Amino acid sequence: MNDAKNILSRSPQVIIKNVDKVFSSGDKEVIALKEINLTIYSGEFVVILGPSGCGKSTLLNAIAGFSLPTSGKVYANGEEVALPGPDRGMVFQEYALFPWMTVAENIAFGLEIKKLPKQTIREKVDTLLTKLQLLEFRDRFPKDLSGGMKQRVAIARVLALDPPMMLMDEPFGALDALTRRTMQDELLRIWLEFKKTIIFVTHGIEESIYLADRVVVMTYRPGTIKQIVPVELYRPRDVSSPQFISLQKELTSLVMEEQMRFRNEEMREPGRDVSEREENEQVT
Ligand SMILES: Nc1ncnc2c1ncn2[C@@H]1O[C@H](COP(=O)(O)OP(=O)(O)OP(=O)(O)O)[C@@H](O)[C@H]1O
Ligand SMILES: [Mg+2]
Repeated sequence: MNDAKNILSRSPQVIIKNVDKVFSSGDKEVIALKEINLTIYSGEFVVILGPSGCGKSTLLNAIAGFSLPTSGKVYANGEEVALPGPDRGMVFQEYALFPWMTVAENIAFGLEIKKLPKQTIREKVDTLLTKLQLLEFRDRFPKDLSGGMKQRVAIARVLALDPPMMLMDEPFGALDALTRRTMQDELLRIWLEFKKTIIFVTHGIEESIYLADRVVVMTYRPGTIKQIVPVELYRPRDVSSPQFISLQKELTSLVMEEQMRFRNEEMREPGRDVSEREENEQVT
């Protein structure tokens, strides 16, 4: 897979300008994002990386239009983001499938809302079922699927609406290591075949290098961009290659600095159970 990219020749698809996001609860304020400036180009695979609480989801939600910045602006596909829109498909860790619908019905849902002709819906759903290797599961319900399968359905449901970009918030976080790798490969295939722009949130360092054209490393509180690390390795990437390992070391040290700040801050706040969160938030 040759993925030499010249992003300079591409058009900007998301422009984030001077974005701040402050959450207030009671007399406390949390500066979740501070002075974020970032441009993401069409067809790029960008990973947002950082420890728990550094503002990854807040940034993704600002792009998605779920939660707008306190100040600054986000533009997506040439328009200022004010609401969620069909041009920005979102995939969550929790799959967000309708349990009472079959796989095919879940994928068809957005197309039904758009009131497309029945025949068109059937054709689109069949194509996606085939491309995502879900054909034999078409009449199953989500409860009968594995985590990886559920996430495939969630991705197919987003692809059905053919958005130019997909926003993914730790989509493989709940999967075991082997299924996660399979899904990463599947996602890279989808990314190339469907020519999407992908903005992918994770706290997995290896995952970020395996997937990204550029890794955006965030600082912990306030959430700023600490560094943007380009990954110029051919795909499929060899996780045991010296270049991969060297990038892993570089990113680990960047993220560990922030992880330590997260840890210190949590320790300072009385009444918090650090040990339980730490278990989930180990740098991987
Ligand atoms: N609705 C909210 N109200 C108050 N504070 C919030 C809200 N949403 C997020 N925060 C705070 O903003 C900061 C950033 O949260 P965010 O969920 O974006 O982090 P994250 O990097 O996605 O973390 P994780 O890896 O745990 O998902 C955190 O300190 C969080 O507690
Ligand atoms: Mg999050």
